[in-house]
Amino acid sequence: MTMNHIQTENYAALSKKAALIIAGQILSKPGSVLGFATGSTPVGTYEELIRLYKEGAVDFGRVTTYNLDEYYGVPRTDPNSYYAFMHTNLFDHINIEDGATHLPNGSAADPVAESIAYEAKIKAAGGVDLQVLGIGNNGHIGFNEPDDHFPAVTHHVQLTDSTIDANSRFYASRDEVPKSALTMGIGTIMAAKKILLLISGTAKKEIMEKALYGPVTPQVPASILQFHNDVTVITDF
Ligand code: PGA
Repeated sequence: MTMNHIQTENYAALSKKAALIIAGQILSKPGSVLGFATGSTPVGTYEELIRLYKEGAVDFGRVTTYNLDEYYGVPRTDPNSYYAFMHTNLFDHINIEDGATHLPNGSAADPVAESIAYEAKIKAAGGVDLQVLGIGNNGHIGFNEPDDHFPAVTHHVQLTDSTIDANSRFYASRDEVPKSALTMGIGTIMAAKKILLLISGTAKKEIMEKALYGPVTPQVPASILQFHNDVTVITDF
């Protein structure tokens, strides 16, 4: 494993450095395929990217994006959809082409067919150049939950109780939290040429240590990143 661990003072510094790495990727390859993530952690990074765009420092005109995951059974118009999240937090504020941003379709009638099609689209685009990741409290990346195997490709997954609990902060009641999702597989993520893993808050320190320095096991899905040869981790602790 070649891992570059950047420790920063605080969340603002983490966000700035992450945005600079993404901007650098776009400067060195304007037609980059970026893999994006949702969740609280990358929000500051997206704000910084918008700022860099407004300053004229970065141009998204030739960029293509693929998001890690989307809730299943949640339409794009739902403000809790990841589609809505990405548009609100990033896409609506930068010059990315309509049609250049991709997420799995959470309204697809057939989740298996949608997963296969999503995986094929990423391959046809030449694969992801730089994949942004957060990590769940249980070690998940995307919605690859702790399991007895590493799922290879994009698939339909039932969310664990721990993930449903974590996501319930965005809903009036736990019952409303989606119970399943479409997610890139571990193989999809590992095929990205570069990985940028963002970890904020000391509550994630223990899972970070397990993932990056513990045994590689599907019970801690992020631990597979130890086998990737270009991982940058940015922490704010
Ligand atoms: P968070 O989620 O950024 O909201 O903590 C991370 C994740 O579950 O991947």
